[in-house]
Amino acid sequence: MNQTLDHYRQAIESYLQTELAFGEPAELYAPIRYILELGGKRMRPVLALLGADLYGADTRQALPAAAAVEIFHNFSLVHDDIMDAAPLRRGRPSVHKKWNDNAAILSGDAMLILAYRQLDAYDAALFKPMAALFSRTALEVCEGQQYDMDFEERDDVSTEAYLEMIRLKTAVLLGCALQLGAMSGGASEADQEALYAFGINLGMAFQLQDDYLDAFGDPAVFGKQPGGDIMANKKTFLYLSALESLEGAASKELRDLFTVRPAEPGAKVTRVLELFRQAGADGLIKDAIDAYTQQALQHLDSVKAEGAAKDLLTAFAGELRTRNY
Ligand code: IPE
Ligand code: IPE
Ligand code: MG
Ligand code: MG
Ligand code: MG
Repeated sequence: MNQTLDHYRQAIESYLQTELAFGEPAELYAPIRYILELGGKRMRPVLALLGADLYGADTRQALPAAAAVEIFHNFSLVHDDIMDAAPLRRGRPSVHKKWNDNAAILSGDAMLILAYRQLDAYDAALFKPMAALFSRTALEVCEGQQYDMDFEERDDVSTEAYLEMIRLKTAVLLGCALQLGAMSGGASEADQEALYAFGINLGMAFQLQDDYLDAFGDPAVFGKQPGGDIMANKKTFLYLSALESLEGAASKELRDLFTVRPAEPGAKVTRVLELFRQAGADGLIKDAIDAYTQQALQHLDSVKAEGAAKDLLTAFAGELRTRNY
């Protein structure tokens, strides 16, 4: 699967290389190159190219849209790491740690502008709907990020509110990537909608797996600080489903642990992981991932286009649950 997607990834890498060849001031541009060259899975731009490929379009037509989404995603990570006080990204120091908060804020701002500028590659007939979708999505990501931060301080977050928060902060960008690709490939509106819905459900499963890995992943592979969500009192699906399952003293203990931020968080993280396991939250989150993956596949089924790209999207969805980074 990874090999099959390699040629899409290579197309994205070489396109990004040519688009991101800036000079001075180094403090502005070096962090942009750093974060983008740290790589990452390039999942969103691959989805955009597959979205175009479904319609037999030359994938080069989708590259600016793919780059717009990937640059936007990297912008959101640079600012997210400040907001989450996260020291590690993709196994390396996050931008605000390697430089400082100011560099990370301004480089992030510049990336947001660079992302939008990619859409200039399209003529007016495509540009207008693409820019509308992109702007709506970008604002939704901000809304999701704000809820995510608000929830750190709240103790009354419902599972429903959490799911809406991850739809906004993560899932809409996957939907957007697929739909932009499909638009550039000339998809019908019905297919665009089905692909967007596929992306939303894929994105829900993807963020649930991210939450799972944040708690239970192998830090050497995952590339982020282990237990970061627990340290920040993130009200993830793991926490919420554990609270629902635990009773009495254990439930109170978990709730209490999520009201403190100890300077040495090691013992808290260890105990929370024990409680998550005791509650069976690790299994419950996998069930939720499977349910969203199934829903995603149903939407993909309703897409009229057929061909190799569709098989790749099916395989892609099937592998979300087992990804380890
Ligand atoms: C990380 O996204 C942020 C989330 C929405 C969970 P990815 O896991 O796609 O990050 P990279 O780009 O592959 O590093
Ligand atoms: C990220 O959510 C969502 C956005 C960056 C918009 P997380 O905070 O869970 O992402 P990671 O785990 O830091 O990559
Ligand atoms: Mg984060
Ligand atoms: Mg975050
Ligand atoms: Mg995370």
